[in-house]
Amino acid sequence: MFITLEGSEGAGKSTLIEHLKKYFLKKNIEFIFTKEPGATKAGLELRKILLDKDVDLDPVSETFLLLADRLEHVRKIIYPALKENKNVISDRYLDSTYAYQGAGRKMNKHDLDTMIKPLNFPEPDLTIYLDLPVEVGLKRAKERNSLDRFEEEEIGFFKRIRNSYLELAKENSHRIFTIDSTYGETEVFELARDRIEKKINEN
Ligand code: TYD
Repeated sequence: MFITLEGSEGAGKSTLIEHLKKYFLKKNIEFIFTKEPGATKAGLELRKILLDKDVDLDPVSETFLLLADRLEHVRKIIYPALKENKNVISDRYLDSTYAYQGAGRKMNKHDLDTMIKPLNFPEPDLTIYLDLPVEVGLKRAKERNSLDRFEEEEIGFFKRIRNSYLELAKENSHRIFTIDSTYGETEVFELARDRIEKKINEN
């Protein structure tokens, strides 16, 4: 089973992941938790460049770096785990590229498809999207740490990203489950847990 988590800055993905890790450990259900960018050794190097505020990247170069990170991730971690019938939860995946590089960086969807489709990335069985008003998310992210290359973007960038996620969720309702992240962390966790368990039982 391949599950991905998506959401904009400050949406609460990290908190949700901590809850899920504890829960599945207690239930003795094995999950591999992984993330993008930076799940592999090469990916960590790519992540450094991608998040570095002092590096100016053309959106196309940025996309290629993210796709290189994903290819390493898929080939070295995700596929081997799925082959062994293990469950994988990835913090960010394909939808991030359509939301951030597509809507955020204004890359044409057709151009993105042309770069992405030949790579044959596996489609997640389930994607949990944590939705939050942009202002609330940015406030949380700013309180938490110093801003990286993405987080220091203007507010319009994040509004486009949120709208794009909402559209992706509509277009892919068979796969994307949206949770209103203004609910408390316990409620967000319970909603995500129930959806994941339902998916496990279906399989
Ligand atoms: P990270 O520190 O992992 O934070 P977050 O908690 O927001 O996931 O930062 C990863 C950043 O990379 C995040 O701002 C989103 C961005 N990103 C893209 O722009 N496109 C992508 O395809 C991926 C995977 C991430």
